[in-house]
Amino acid sequence: MAGSASTSRRAFMSQMAGTASLALATKASAAVSVAEIGAGHAPDDQSYWRWVSEQFLIDPNIAYMNTGTRGPSPASVIQAQFEAIKGYDRDRLSYVRYVANSEAKENLRARLAEFVGCNANELAITTNTTEGMSIGTSGLDLKAGDEIIYTNHDHSSGGQPINLRAARHGIVPVVVDLSSDKFHPPNRPDTILAAFEGAITPRTKLISFCHVNYTDGCVLPVKEICAMARAKGILTLVDGAHPPGMMNLDIHDLGCDIYAGAGHKWLCAAMQTGFLFVRESLLDRVWPLNYSGPVQGMSMYRQAASPGSSLDRSRMAAKYELHGSGNYATEASLSAALDFHETLTIDAIEARVRHMAARARDGLREIPGVQLCVSDDPAMSCGLVSFKVGDVDPIEVNDALWDRHGIYIRDVTHPEIDWAANRASLHIMVHDEDVENLIGAVAEVAKEKGV
Ligand SMILES: Cc1ncc(COP(=O)(O)O)c(C=O)c1O
Repeated sequence: MAGSASTSRRAFMSQMAGTASLALATKASAAVSVAEIGAGHAPDDQSYWRWVSEQFLIDPNIAYMNTGTRGPSPASVIQAQFEAIKGYDRDRLSYVRYVANSEAKENLRARLAEFVGCNANELAITTNTTEGMSIGTSGLDLKAGDEIIYTNHDHSSGGQPINLRAARHGIVPVVVDLSSDKFHPPNRPDTILAAFEGAITPRTKLISFCHVNYTDGCVLPVKEICAMARAKGILTLVDGAHPPGMMNLDIHDLGCDIYAGAGHKWLCAAMQTGFLFVRESLLDRVWPLNYSGPVQGMSMYRQAASPGSSLDRSRMAAKYELHGSGNYATEASLSAALDFHETLTIDAIEARVRHMAARARDGLREIPGVQLCVSDDPAMSCGLVSFKVGDVDPIEVNDALWDRHGIYIRDVTHPEIDWAANRASLHIMVHDEDVENLIGAVAEVAKEKGV
């Protein structure tokens, strides 16, 4: 079919529907749709959550507990990517005209913005958390001697853009030490807040920190830190790699200025998906970094923007997306991941994640020699459960769990701050018996190693 002007959206869609589809071998009983099975189930409704876990293509012999690094996608998300690639490669003009046009992108931004609690014009689709953290740190006008605070439990995605600016522009990094014993297990939000407050000087311009630490799984008191910083005229940049898709997220309520999130972790969208929130009042102070759009409302030919045109984007976060060709398939995956999460409901997902994490904490706590790094306080804990098996190298623990039981967790090891732990991510692809197997397998290693 040529993409003639007479081609209607309906004709294109019905033609698409007639083409071959990807046969996805879910373990399920997947003939049953989410709509049929219903939403909002209790966290201990084992047969329902088993059905949900079976929407993923994960090998039945693997207990996948590393969503904190990469969240596998359910079949519907993979199918959406395939349909996008197929539609585009089959008839590019019609696909772009009827499916992947600017209205569709705006709808996606609006849906994602609602899901994470901000306005659509404050949200850009990015490739990952790191991209957002880089824009947040390097997009601000700062001068030599200005200070940026971050913590030694931040990910390199947050810390290294700051060190880059230090090397390039003479910005001064100020590191808050969250590794001392007084923070572990992290159950004292006031201690954490005081540590941030104590690092502030008259030169502090930005505080950058994680919503959820990837090391110990601690949920930081984001709201309190942001309120304290705002009262002192300091901007806040939050690394939100983990919360989106794992827990209810209301960015406006948190009160931060910039928030970078991932789509390819707990939201289970395709690899290279994420988002960046920049508070509306800050949009003209945060410069894009990788950019081909209008500059000061002017095209490359110095043509002025008419209001509402694509040149008139300076006050929209969508400007951070203007850097060459994107990927329709990853955008489609984000829409499908939102469908999936919205259908199950984020409340039910969060309750399920917390239910499994609590069971894992309770079971691990009882193993002699095993030390939990996370708190039981729901305000400070989530689906990331970090623990230490005596002094055993976390890589040895990983290997034993994987080689003997097919349990996939990760190690988080930073000798520089004397931190070495294992971390299990408990998301909706994990079964109840996987959690029991994790506890049993860790007990086995602890006993063998005589901890
Ligand atoms: C806290 C934290 N921030 C940032 C990242 C990097 O995320 P992305 O791959 O989305 O850039 C990770 C990845 O594991 C993380 O745990």
